[in-house]
Amino acid sequence: MRTIIEPFRIKSVEPLRQTTRQEREQYLEAAGYNLFLIQARHILIDLLTDSGTSAMSTEQWAAVMRGDESYAGSESFFRLKRAADELTGFRHMIPTHQGRAAERILFSVMCKSGHIVPNNTHFDTTRANIEFTGARAVDLPLAEAADTQARLDFKGNMDVAALEQLVRTAGAGRIPLVMLTVTNNSGGGQPVSMGNIEAVKRVCAAAGIPLYLDACRFAENAWFIREREPGYADWTPKRIAQKMFSLADGCTFSAKKDAFANIGGFLCSNDDRVAQQETNLLILTEGFPTYGGLAGRDLDAIATGLEEVLDIDYLRYRIASTSYLGRHIADHGVPIVEPPGGHAIYIDAARMLPHIPPHRFPGQALAVELYRHAGIRGVEIGSVMFGEAARHELLRLAIPRRVYTQSHIDYVVEAILEVNGRKEKIRGLEIVEQPPFLRHFSARFREV
Ligand code: F0G
Repeated sequence: MRTIIEPFRIKSVEPLRQTTRQEREQYLEAAGYNLFLIQARHILIDLLTDSGTSAMSTEQWAAVMRGDESYAGSESFFRLKRAADELTGFRHMIPTHQGRAAERILFSVMCKSGHIVPNNTHFDTTRANIEFTGARAVDLPLAEAADTQARLDFKGNMDVAALEQLVRTAGAGRIPLVMLTVTNNSGGGQPVSMGNIEAVKRVCAAAGIPLYLDACRFAENAWFIREREPGYADWTPKRIAQKMFSLADGCTFSAKKDAFANIGGFLCSNDDRVAQQETNLLILTEGFPTYGGLAGRDLDAIATGLEEVLDIDYLRYRIASTSYLGRHIADHGVPIVEPPGGHAIYIDAARMLPHIPPHRFPGQALAVELYRHAGIRGVEIGSVMFGEAARHELLRLAIPRRVYTQSHIDYVVEAILEVNGRKEKIRGLEIVEQPPFLRHFSARFREV
């Protein structure tokens, strides 16, 4: 059979609420054309993020009921520890309330002013947490990845020559760790090859620098390795993931992505001294080391999710459904970041709307139009989010895991193609009110 079906059936449903175009006009106006400020109940299909928005399975809900809420030494912790140990092999694992809490603790322990932390591409919270310590976050993506149309198998890779150069010029003493984000979210949800992880590890090992994975989407990355990298076609996704982790010295993880949990994360390391300092910080703000800011039931949901996410049928469906959305719009002339990534499709709004210059925010204008036309919410990743530092003007459509069916995605495709059909009429935006920071969450706009 060629049809790839959702490898699950639905046991519990949540109604979607339709709105009229006139209502959506009003909501847009009231929200200052910022989709973060629209109430979720006024959204029909929500593609704002794949983070914390997954549908949990029956096994996860059963695990939630088994949650042990003991303050110390909870059974749920040991179930999570067993799952994380088997997958990652790291010596230490501390739970955190989400990925950025793990980042804050890791960088507080390892970084200080004058340090540099390279990554293939830092996610915005990763960069912010590094810079908060006074260190500098440096992105080292492949030069070819700057072209949204270039179709590379592993477009998320780090530029290894640039890393070697940085280690030579800055000196290993100023680089407390190197990170690899799998998959590369800010770079289009693109995967990193095993060969690239190995090459980065060699550079790190030669210089005595630990390598950490930002492992949010480790399972999607493992699937791409299986599909695209010679030698891995017969491996299980789990074995590939285990090898990825074995090359690193630690990881940060947001369980809100590839563990299907609505909240949670963890921080791992092989360094006893670092782990001790991290545990001390954890107790200050997150909680005792056997729960780290989470309820016991959350720990159990994550432990179960870590196993489910490596299922071959699930991963085949997951990557195929993202690519389905990408191909159906790209093959009809909508420019996307090629090739489709793991968790999201990124429309190249600058290319689609050449009449809207960057300072009139083409990604935001497209987000507004898609909501106005069809009640769909995506997120701008461009000049609104990054200001002058923006490299592209993108609209990200992130796909929550196991939530929407193929007909929902067909609706999204139809809406995007209709918007594309009269794209010349889409107007740019100007900012009328903006706070000094995090403007993509709170700025208000007007159409011009
Ligand atoms: N690293 C990456 C690569 C991420 O994509 C995220 C979150 C984080 C770290 C932080 O994890 O949210 O649990 O604190 N990304 C979400 C997104 C918010 O929409 O891409 P968190």
